[in-house]
Amino acid sequence: MRHLLGIEGLRRADIEALLDRAEAHLRGGPDASHVLRGKVVANLFFEDSTRTRTSFEMAAHALGAEVLNWTMAGSSVSKGETLLDTVRNIEATGPVALVIRHRAAGAPHLVARNVGCAVINAGDGTHEHPSQGLLDAFTLRRRWGNLDGRTVVIVGDILHSRVARSNLHCLTALGAKVVLCGPPTLLPPGLESLGAEVSTRLDEVLPRADAVMCLRLQLERQGENFFPSVREFARLYGLNAARAERLKPEALVMHPGPINRGVELAPAVADGSRSVILEQVAHGVAVRRAILEEVCR
Ligand code: NCD
Repeated sequence: MRHLLGIEGLRRADIEALLDRAEAHLRGGPDASHVLRGKVVANLFFEDSTRTRTSFEMAAHALGAEVLNWTMAGSSVSKGETLLDTVRNIEATGPVALVIRHRAAGAPHLVARNVGCAVINAGDGTHEHPSQGLLDAFTLRRRWGNLDGRTVVIVGDILHSRVARSNLHCLTALGAKVVLCGPPTLLPPGLESLGAEVSTRLDEVLPRADAVMCLRLQLERQGENFFPSVREFARLYGLNAARAERLKPEALVMHPGPINRGVELAPAVADGSRSVILEQVAHGVAVRRAILEEVCR
């Protein structure tokens, strides 16, 4: 694998190989602190990030790499420098990999066609967020052994969510059934053809869920009103304590973060015994280590 641009198109065996490698890291497997010694991994974040950027940084350090943290704020983007000029200039400083987050879908793909080093998509607009899909699948696999025959309900702003798209590809490739749930205006057409079941009724699908993944309303990507109010969304699609009571006893609750507490997820559920939200974050480091190792080989 030269780049990691998306999960779509990856084979089950490719995904499992990455997750196995992450598992080995997490179990303290063979010392990997020399793998990228003397190399530089460049983080290029054209959009804000808390978990993704810091965990790619920790993953790179664990492999012995130096990290260049470029952020759009304070850069020459404000002077009109283009995406390709920016990345070509960063590439000229010699990194072995570029980790890119950008508001435009397809930006990492464009970059990958124009640079010689490895490119990792850390989230491109509403398109894909492959490392998140992998770490979510990894978290479920660690809990369940494998995903075959499991049902994962992903609920919220499906239309604008790159996390939903990457998870749909990743979880179905690993044998799970994915139910995408949200208001009709936030469910794009054609999801069934990607292998998803689609529902607008959370209360109907919740009892079947082995895991529920709640998604934030991506208000920054919404140019118009997609539903009457945030309160209305929370009432119909928020995972509150009463809804969590109706889940299977062993069902897990997930969220990629950042959480809008009290909107898509109630604080008591986010911090409750079903929640694996901080496990997802912790696993992000091991999974990103496996990704860096794979594309920098
Ligand atoms: C998500 C993202 O940026 O796509 N967060 C993440 O990377 N963990 C989800 C979001 O912003 O809601």
